[in-house]
Amino acid sequence: MDKKISKPNSKLNGQISIPSDKSISHRAVIFSCLANGTSVIKNFSKGQDPLSTLSICQKLGMTTEFKDDLYITSCGKLIFPDTELYCGNSGTTMRLMTGILAGQNFNSILTGDESLSKRPMKRIITPLSLMGAKIKSNNEKAPLEICGQNLHGITYSSPIASAQVKSSILLAGLFAEGRTTVTEPYLSRNHTELMLSYMDADITVNDLSTSVTRSQLTPKTIEIPGDISSAAYFIAAALIVPNSEIILKNVGLNPTRTGILDVFKKMGADIVILDRRTISNELIGDLKIKYSDLNGCTIEGNIIPRLIDEIPVIAVIATQAQGQTVIKDAQDLRNKESDRINTIVTELKKLGANIEETSDGIIINGKTKLQGGVEVETFHDHRLAMSLYIAGLLCTKEILIKNFEWVKISFPEFESLFKTLLT
Ligand code: S3P
Repeated sequence: MDKKISKPNSKLNGQISIPSDKSISHRAVIFSCLANGTSVIKNFSKGQDPLSTLSICQKLGMTTEFKDDLYITSCGKLIFPDTELYCGNSGTTMRLMTGILAGQNFNSILTGDESLSKRPMKRIITPLSLMGAKIKSNNEKAPLEICGQNLHGITYSSPIASAQVKSSILLAGLFAEGRTTVTEPYLSRNHTELMLSYMDADITVNDLSTSVTRSQLTPKTIEIPGDISSAAYFIAAALIVPNSEIILKNVGLNPTRTGILDVFKKMGADIVILDRRTISNELIGDLKIKYSDLNGCTIEGNIIPRLIDEIPVIAVIATQAQGQTVIKDAQDLRNKESDRINTIVTELKKLGANIEETSDGIIINGKTKLQGGVEVETFHDHRLAMSLYIAGLLCTKEILIKNFEWVKISFPEFESLFKTLLT
């Protein structure tokens, strides 16, 4: 489905609740599948990626009932799935499930769509193999054939700050003999650690190192925060559409995810956090955002994992900031649903942005009037689609976003919710 976007006639105004966090939704389902009894998940995501995880866990024996909330019942032991397990577009599903399946007493096969089948799996195959896992792959890419084994714990220093890698190893550690410890160069999102602890696993965190031993999880009621990565598009829109003022309710504010707030504030954004609270071990709050004059800044080092999924929309906003914005140390962006360094630079150039690709990031010179009047591609990447929608709000002429339907991967409600804020 192609989508036409043009400059809105009005400001953004009003208050909305941000839909469920994708990363936490995956973990809520997977960990409930590992617990013995019934878990209740409140505010489960409607995105395609968490639904891929749900469907796989059903094939592994868990039963589900949707009332207002999602009820998951499991006996805490996985059963042999007599079919391939399809992860769709979801890297989180494939990497986390590989960790779990590596230590089962049956074999399994994980497959993915065209984009997922191009993404690197060596980053999990290497450490899991050190634990004794047997995984066959297609040149270190999906499909992955996992031959269940008895695993043993390892101490692993991860070369990259990746929550998917860290979580894959820790989940394998729940089924391994002895202790498993992962250390990462910078802290990546820690939802796995927080939820495993909430569900009574034997887990300890010490700065950049996390350790687990074999554990049986306790079923719980898990309330999922709104996704700050989805909120990012609304924050961005309010900052650039003149006279806007919005409130976003129930946004996850886990410090491993709030790099975008730090960066926007450094650029001069008027963002205020209201009513901070904790639900199911995760910090949340409401955000008040007003249209702001912005300045460029440098984004590098340990903040990168804290905003990795928001870099495409930050690049859009940087076109409207005075001066230069430099994004460095973000080479892993090339391994996402698309090569996001290349794809966002290519598409924003078509709109007239002054933007350049570097090997590990992006340089943007602002402030530029985006012209539009062209077609842009989404490269089957939900975050590209939403970032280009925000760019479309700035263009002097209408733009056509090809294959906009990819937003369904994380945020099917994106456009309908956006329109409720146009007054
Ligand atoms: C995710 C971790 C991030 C992020 C992805 C979701 C997760 O990937 O980009 O969208 O749920 O663990 P990496 O941690 O591998 O960079």
